[in-house]
Amino acid sequence: EPRIVVLISGTGSNLQALIESTRAPGHPGRIVAVGSNRPDAAGLQRAEQAGIETFVVDHTTYRDRASFDADLLRKLEALNPDAIVLAGFMRILTEDFVRHFRGRLINIHPSLLPKYQGLNTHQRALDAGDATHGTSVHFVTEELDGGPVIARAEVPVLENDTADTLAARVKAREHVLYPIILRWFCEGRIALGNDEVLFDGSPLPQVLSL
Ligand code: GAR
Repeated sequence: EPRIVVLISGTGSNLQALIESTRAPGHPGRIVAVGSNRPDAAGLQRAEQAGIETFVVDHTTYRDRASFDADLLRKLEALNPDAIVLAGFMRILTEDFVRHFRGRLINIHPSLLPKYQGLNTHQRALDAGDATHGTSVHFVTEELDGGPVIARAEVPVLENDTADTLAARVKAREHVLYPIILRWFCEGRIALGNDEVLFDGSPLPQVLSL
């Protein structure tokens, strides 16, 4: 049974979708813990309500990124995770951390990567006049928001959209996309190759569009 740890920083609506989906009959994986860098992250309560162990590694109490990451790594190692799922985890991770968990670390980013890496993705899509926007699930590697993309989901940009209405439309798709990818990962169907995504053992010819 693959052991999943979810890391969050905020609301945890993606976490909620992952909790519900992993509890479906026949799901191979199990969320064994939910961690946050923020003690006040609302998502921690979602985990507690679901009876899942939670932990906090508060980044404000560390003198630098390296010492925060070292503690987070130690905490995660103790949980023996097969998958570390970033779901609105808003900290940049050091290269050492990312390398340590290579192939087990997955992130969801609210843009059609490689477009709009970094923050404020919804406003940037609006400012650019894009007709479509969306979300991407990718393996985390040393490049920030630059690891191999597994799958994307698109949404239309509507005429009266604000960053908030667009974000809500994107999140609705994330709640469908992320559980599918995590399930495939737990089933061993998705893996990280040298620098490409393997699907059922073969390099993906192109990013999955779901
Ligand atoms: C999600 O939209 C996710 O894609 C984004 O934060 C939101 C978290 O929402 N992640 C990033 O921006 C990562 N750089 P949630 O807490 O309701 O799941």
